[in-house]
Amino acid sequence: MRVLVVGAGGLLGGNVTSVALDRNESVITAYHSVDPGFDCPSHQIDITSSTAVNELVNEVDPDAIVNCAAMTDVDGCETDPEQAHAVNADGAEHVARAADSVDATLVHTSTDYVFSGEETAPYSETAEPDPKQEYGESKLAGERRVQDAHSDPLIARLSFVYGRLPPDGSISGFPAWVLEKARKGDEIPLFTDQRVSPSYAKATAKTLLNLLETDQKGTFNVASRSCVTPYEFGGLIVEEAGFKNAALTESSMNDIDRDAERPRYTCLDTAAVEEALDRPQSTLAEDLADLL
Ligand SMILES: NC(=O)c1ccc[n+]([C@@H]2O[C@H](COP(=O)([O-])OP(=O)(O)OC[C@H]3O[C@@H](n4cnc5c(N)ncnc54)[C@H](OP(=O)(O)O)[C@@H]3O)[C@@H](O)[C@H]2O)c1
Repeated sequence: MRVLVVGAGGLLGGNVTSVALDRNESVITAYHSVDPGFDCPSHQIDITSSTAVNELVNEVDPDAIVNCAAMTDVDGCETDPEQAHAVNADGAEHVARAADSVDATLVHTSTDYVFSGEETAPYSETAEPDPKQEYGESKLAGERRVQDAHSDPLIARLSFVYGRLPPDGSISGFPAWVLEKARKGDEIPLFTDQRVSPSYAKATAKTLLNLLETDQKGTFNVASRSCVTPYEFGGLIVEEAGFKNAALTESSMNDIDRDAERPRYTCLDTAAVEEALDRPQSTLAEDLADLL
């Protein structure tokens, strides 16, 4: 299969590229600012330009496109909503429309932040979205534009993405921050009033490619089976890494002032993806054992 990975310089896109190359797929990467340096053809792209996206997709003529490109800085989206919508909604549509024009299968990635966070049980794919910040608004608009622009897309909603950034393999995201503080012996303040289902980038990449290979369509939650607070997540990280005396302290989302509101509860129900692939999603503990 000829796969074009858009956003290959990012955490998830890098993992999708790495897993697809391991599976001997014919991979072409598209990055935004820095070429990630995989051993495959690579192109620079700004998905806000429909012309650039069309030219690239026509040139590559892929069987499938996995779109991992997004403006993911949640506070940055709040202060620059125009750019958030240009990338997360317009850009998503450009990629979907171009994929459709060459009959390529599309995997588009979205977020748990399409939900308000006011529930107390895991969100299913059919739960009503109600984003509370520009990032979630722009990603929800992107989902809808993708559904209009492509005849049969697969949309994967992820939560709290972390992992190793290929090809060099450095740890990225929340675990990198926790481990750095633990190494220095610093206090590690972690929220006890937020719950998420962390999506390990490598496991997520494998799941996305499995969904692609089995020709699944529609919307799927792709996350771990675990529903944890950042405090619990941090506790598992330092335990797995062997820091016996790490100074975890309980804190609240209200303790810090940020531009964008965050949802308090965005655990995702993974039953649909488990049924589609006929196997359970991994737990956070399993994913951390692999990461560390
Ligand atoms: N990170 C999370 O916790 C999280 C949670 C839920 C869902 N998601 C979703 O998961 C997907 C992957 O996210 P990630 O964690 O891998 O994020 P990431 O590491 O920030 O990667 C996003 C990539 O998109 C690229 N990009 C930004 N603007 C672009 C543009 N105009 N044209 C082309 N590419 C552009 C970025 O390139 P530059 O850096 O070079 O600009 C970056 O390489 C996204 O759809 C995101 O919304 C993420």
